[in-house]
Amino acid sequence: MPFNTKLTRALGIERPIVQGGMQWVGYAELASAVSNAGGLGILTALTQPTPEDLRKEIRKCKTMTKKPFGVNITLLPTLNAPDYGAYAQVAIDEGIKVVETAGNSPGPVIKQLKAVGIIILHKCTTIRHAQSAINLGVDFLSIDGFECAGHVGETDITNFILLSRARQSLKVPFIASGGFADGQGLAAALSLGAEGINMGTRFMCTVEAPIHLNIKETIVKASENDTELVLRRWKNTSRLFKNKATAGATKVERESTTGKFEEVAPWVSGKRGREVFINGDPDFGVWTAGQVIGLIHDIPTCADLCSRIEREAEETINKAAGLISPKASHVTPPIFILPKSSLLITPWWYPPLRFSPGANYADLTGRLVSEKTFQVGHDPTCPPTALRHHRNTRGLAEGVAATGALVKAVLMDRREQKRVQQAESEPGSDDEDVQDIIDAKKKTEARTYAIHHEIEEGD
Ligand SMILES: Cc1cc2nc3c(=O)[nH]c(=O)nc-3n(C[C@H](O)[C@H](O)[C@H](O)COP(=O)(O)O)c2cc1C
Repeated sequence: MPFNTKLTRALGIERPIVQGGMQWVGYAELASAVSNAGGLGILTALTQPTPEDLRKEIRKCKTMTKKPFGVNITLLPTLNAPDYGAYAQVAIDEGIKVVETAGNSPGPVIKQLKAVGIIILHKCTTIRHAQSAINLGVDFLSIDGFECAGHVGETDITNFILLSRARQSLKVPFIASGGFADGQGLAAALSLGAEGINMGTRFMCTVEAPIHLNIKETIVKASENDTELVLRRWKNTSRLFKNKATAGATKVERESTTGKFEEVAPWVSGKRGREVFINGDPDFGVWTAGQVIGLIHDIPTCADLCSRIEREAEETINKAAGLISPKASHVTPPIFILPKSSLLITPWWYPPLRFSPGANYADLTGRLVSEKTFQVGHDPTCPPTALRHHRNTRGLAEGVAATGALVKAVLMDRREQKRVQQAESEPGSDDEDVQDIIDAKKKTEARTYAIHHEIEEGD
């Protein structure tokens, strides 16, 4: 269990991975599979026609997992609003510990749920909405970037900015939502200050997601360019899978002279969207998907997916930690001194090289190069730079690195090294050869910043 965050502790889950509410997808089959995989599975309340149906689904889910799972309550601006209070009451009655809220005016529902101590994870796409939700007493925020599937909001701020804004300004812990599919993403989210990630599209494309296989295969084939924003004209912008239905909707959106919603409504019908998941025809209606669709290349089980994400995140964080070079490496001597036969310990990202007697040099990939070309590591943030050098009789190599920095290497055997050391400790030495080498070192010191190479004498 490598990740122990505020989210895992508060929810009693093993992995900081949440499956966001998904209309027509968030049934017991998926929610229980995610919870069994150590994340938090979430049932989508409005996928159930009535609060009583939600009760049945919660009970069904309880038979499928003994782990915690949540309920999503999405408050949408519709004329005939469902009885959100009744759905919330079912969650309370059934002992649900965490509810994901989303959408407009969640105040009354949040109040109702908070009154009995339910943990609220509120999803929002702006910092302003996050602040309002904090004022309502939410426990966690789910910060949904512009990449996300579904309601992206109207401000188009992607997660690179949104998550750091959340870190800088929110007093309540948050998770990152939108654009996550792998452990590299989880590692990035944790780095930006999140306590975990929320995923929608990625979980749609799992063995347990109760949708037609053809839709999962469509997701696997799709690229990040295959989503489309619709309904911006009506300030209800949604990111959907790009298909014939979204093409029809965007045409109306562009060309309608009345701007009446009724004109676009047939294209964005929820009923047809639901059918897509049952009949497997990706063009039958609109359906929700995020840009992360371009990062999805398989249909794993939730257990495989979650353990893979955990493993990748751990590896990513460890690898990134390895980028931190030892303190001294940036301020090391600008000249590196190579005994004629030496073992050169190269920067950490290359294996050590052995310089054989007689051979000139090797490049840092381990290839011996007789053309007197070799590379020096420069700085952990820069690629290795190529150095062309020529060697004079005294073993002075110099050249211009690819970055333009002048680099000199003084080639000495152990005996010469000793002479140089001695001469350096006794200024005014009359050993001319050695004095030249010392002068060369001094000259280049100000201009060169080759990375530190530890040198040992070789064979
Ligand atoms: C098919 C589908 C249906 C969704 N339905 C809802 C919903 O009813 N309520 C909600 O709050 N979010 C819904 N979402 C959004 C997800 O909960 C989640 O925030 C989003 O998918 C995150 O972006 P991602 O897809 O890049 O992971 C839905 C997403 C998908 C893919």
